[in-house]
Amino acid sequence: MKSTSTDMAIQPIITLNNGVKIPAIGLGTWQSKPEDVVNAVEYAIKDVGYRHIDCAAMYGNEKEVGEGIRRSGVPRSEVFLTSKLWCTRHHEVEKALDESLANFGTDYLDLYLIHWPVHLNPHGNHPSFPLRPDGSRDVLVDWPLKETWRQMEEVLKKGKVKAIGVSNFSEKKLEEILPTATVIPAVNQLELHLYNPQHNLLKYLSEKGIVAQAYSPLGSTNSPLLEDETVASLAKKHELTPPDVLLGYLLSKNIVVLPKSVTPSRIASNFKGAIAAKEKLTKEDVELLDGVAPGGKQKRLIMPPWGIDLGFENWTK
Ligand SMILES: NC(=O)c1ccc[n+]([C@@H]2O[C@H](COP(=O)([O-])OP(=O)(O)OC[C@H]3O[C@@H](n4cnc5c(N)ncnc54)[C@H](OP(=O)(O)O)[C@@H]3O)[C@@H](O)[C@H]2O)c1
Repeated sequence: MKSTSTDMAIQPIITLNNGVKIPAIGLGTWQSKPEDVVNAVEYAIKDVGYRHIDCAAMYGNEKEVGEGIRRSGVPRSEVFLTSKLWCTRHHEVEKALDESLANFGTDYLDLYLIHWPVHLNPHGNHPSFPLRPDGSRDVLVDWPLKETWRQMEEVLKKGKVKAIGVSNFSEKKLEEILPTATVIPAVNQLELHLYNPQHNLLKYLSEKGIVAQAYSPLGSTNSPLLEDETVASLAKKHELTPPDVLLGYLLSKNIVVLPKSVTPSRIASNFKGAIAAKEKLTKEDVELLDGVAPGGKQKRLIMPPWGIDLGFENWTK
């Protein structure tokens, strides 16, 4: 089955603060092995109707993601492609971006994000995750994030990317770049799901006109969310599956969702189920889901040991 313009018509689209339109369901690719991700991306675009792929230099699969897009037969201009600046490259944004572009085999990205508000020592003892002799992360603690952002603004001006944004930025970290920013980040990609809804940060982002993207929307590897009883009851009520409810919940809040899968049946059901759940979930259902984490189930799942305070609520070292 080839995806049609009808599929495109029904998938939710969000307009970013610079007018760029982003399909609200994107295929995640973290931990997708290079040999699997080619087929996953091709299938998602050609057979299901995805028009948004979330990638990152750190995932080590940009080449294969680019190949999957080409194999889909859908023009590059119809696919929204995101990548991210890795932590050892904050001082050389354009160089890192050019490497990503070459990997994908494309001459622009739709969105480029600072992966984490952390600059790791580029001359450290490991190319991606350097450690100090005492075993702690080799973070350049005095690096000004506003300088990374200035370089992000440069590549935007040059037309190498259509939009720029951040990832894993708390309000505190955003306040380190906003006073000198000439471009407001278009998005902030965050761990957002039933057990980590970050209600306060979402309110702040909305006030600033920054769109939130949900990573690990299903609860990532070995997810505890799929067994949640509130989700199960809503799934039963609306004849949906738990993953549908988890994704539809976020879409209902105008959050971009990035479910990852390399399994064709799940790639398809996540897309269709998310759209169906967005239609079916009521305002009361969404309020009920909003209350699950504050009601005692708050849990972060992705907490790399950076060794510095990122300024997030509920981040326990
Ligand atoms: N900016 C950041 O720092 C950051 C951090 C984490 C993630 N991300 C992005 O967000 C994406 C999503 O996050 P994530 O990969 O952590 O987790 P996720 O999408 O919440 O969950 C992925 C896991 O769920 C499984 N799965 C997918 N659909 C399923 C279904 N319908 N039923 C049951 N299991 C299902 C997948 O398995 P199979 O693949 O085997 O089907 C995989 O193990 C990433 O891939 C990446 O693009 C960004």
